[in-house]
Amino acid sequence: MRRPPQWMALILAVLGLAFSSLVVSALADEAAPSEWKAPARASRKKNPIPPSDQSIAAGKDVYVKQCLSCHGDAGKGDGSAAKDLTTKPRDLSDPAVTSQTDGTLFWKISEGRKPMPSFSQLLPEEDRWNVVNYIRTLAPPPATQPSDSSSKPSDGDKP
Ligand code: HEC
Repeated sequence: MRRPPQWMALILAVLGLAFSSLVVSALADEAAPSEWKAPARASRKKNPIPPSDQSIAAGKDVYVKQCLSCHGDAGKGDGSAAKDLTTKPRDLSDPAVTSQTDGTLFWKISEGRKPMPSFSQLLPEEDRWNVVNYIRTLAPPPATQPSDSSSKPSDGDKP
């Protein structure tokens, strides 16, 4: 039997390297402590509570009592308790946070991640959705949002 040509061995070696680096980076992803991902199912969960003034006011109440000490009054992560924490509270007005779905934020608030407590036992679901609605008010609205804009006049348009 003919020996395989040398270039074949080379290609196999390159493929092997590429494959193992893929595996390594996948494992590293899994272990990266900085990324906090919600399960896809949780992210898709719809917020059952519309962001009415009432819900936002209720959410603000929750926020002031439960979140402000760490996240600060504008959500910047500069609450009075924040300076003692090794992991800094996230800036809730940052696009990295505001771009997440309501379902994701709800899940993260429910689960918590040290030093942030898990609120699933501390707050009823309704309060957790209300606080999601409130957090949304901490961020300036995105500059370009093709749909879902509140600026269009709706009165008198209806037949
Ligand atoms: C003890 C301090 C503390 C309290 C109280 C606290 N948090 Fe946090 N929060 C943190 C820290 C620290 C992080 C960053 C955790 C991480 O990335 O590992 C965080 C992260 C978050 C995130 C995730 C942002 C991201 O990375 O996607 C949200 C949303 C959030 N907090 C909302 C809240 C809400 C709402 C409350 C009140 C119901 C609250 N937090 C109460 C400390 C706190």
